[in-house]
Amino acid sequence: MANVVVVGSQWGDEGKGKIVDWLSERADVVVRYQGGHNAGHTLVIDGVSYKLSLLPSGLVRGKFSVIGNGVVVDPRHLVEEIDKLAGQGVTITPELLRIADNAPLILSVHQELDAIRENATSGLKIGTTKRGIGPAYEDKVGRRAIRVIDLAEPETLMAKIERLLTHHNALRRGMGIDEIPAQRIWDELMAVSDKVLPYVDRVWALLDERRRRGERILFEGAQGALLDNDHGTYPFVTSSNTVAGQAAPGSGLGPSAIDYVLGITKAYTTRVGEGPFPTEQDNEVGQFLGERGREFGVVTGRKRRCGWFDAVIVRQTVRTSGIHGIALTKLDVLDGLEEIRVCVGYELNGTRIDYLPASMGAQSGVKPIYESLEGWAETTAGARSWADLPAQAVKYVRRVEELIGAPVAMLSTSPEREDTILVQDPFQV
Ligand code: IMP
Repeated sequence: MANVVVVGSQWGDEGKGKIVDWLSERADVVVRYQGGHNAGHTLVIDGVSYKLSLLPSGLVRGKFSVIGNGVVVDPRHLVEEIDKLAGQGVTITPELLRIADNAPLILSVHQELDAIRENATSGLKIGTTKRGIGPAYEDKVGRRAIRVIDLAEPETLMAKIERLLTHHNALRRGMGIDEIPAQRIWDELMAVSDKVLPYVDRVWALLDERRRRGERILFEGAQGALLDNDHGTYPFVTSSNTVAGQAAPGSGLGPSAIDYVLGITKAYTTRVGEGPFPTEQDNEVGQFLGERGREFGVVTGRKRRCGWFDAVIVRQTVRTSGIHGIALTKLDVLDGLEEIRVCVGYELNGTRIDYLPASMGAQSGVKPIYESLEGWAETTAGARSWADLPAQAVKYVRRVEELIGAPVAMLSTSPEREDTILVQDPFQV
């Protein structure tokens, strides 16, 4: 039995929602293990579009799903997202969803702080989703977070809130903004606590038991490896580890639980928010890709920056995430282009390098070295076998595989689940 981790191999928005949906049919459990409601996963089922941010995608198909301890949980958003899905006819019950008792909470104070920092005219702008993700993780590692299980212990909750606010109110005084009374956070938590508590569980034990029973676990990564707090384009990253290894500590299973890592890879590159993007095309090519690929953020509605496929960063992700195979998505967006470029290396201060350097200055200074490939006039949208693809498209895919050092396990040719060419079933490896 294989347990599969799905990760984004670029800067997020690679089309993970559809692939996770495809794989979840073959899985017994779907687990989110990092990030929070900054993620935006779109699933299209029978023409109906479901947009999820915090909940594991498996829920839409009625799969048993878990929010692991590595996730930062905004309890108010959780309740809203459950209600929204209910409005679309998807009922979520504690039989279907479990939330780790040791997951930290995102509170209004985090969201406010995220927005204040992002809206400030001075300082470093990251272009966050303003959902409080960064400040919530800061409090987690600062050992002052309120965790899901604290909702079950109201007698000690107030003291925890007060301890947390000692830190936040000092910050707020420094910024010249109003302090927050502990009662406000208490009321905010009590308003949703009864709706959250039925889902709370000892997730590490539950997953271990299911694993021992031979159930298949699908770990659903959010964002992308280049947004990883250690391995990404720091400081223009998110505040969690987005690489595949995080599936273990973010769920409470050991690393031996991971059998296969599938990297979701878009046939070109996009990024939302600030930060280096060597192959960005701030021109008609970028505009073409953005319009064709409908590149707007699910969570914030922001226009995504677009550019050519960057084999350097994906090759790096293949190594930092231990990717066995990739799912290549949105190939059809390239249909009709006469020439397609692929970045095969960088030039930095006159020297050729084959990796993304760690320094912030060097990351923004690298110049892409391109290889040019012939495009194709035919459409690849909806193709369900290699034979349906034009020869040049197959050539493009083969070159991508060669450059990144990993095979294409799946090729997605439209948002519809059935439009998928399967080369290797990750659960059967
Ligand atoms: P945060 O995660 O809201 O703190 O945002 C940090 C960076 O990660 C920003 O550049 C965001 O645009 C980016 N980001 C966060 N979540 C996603 C996602 O799901 N897809 C793509 N980019 C994301």
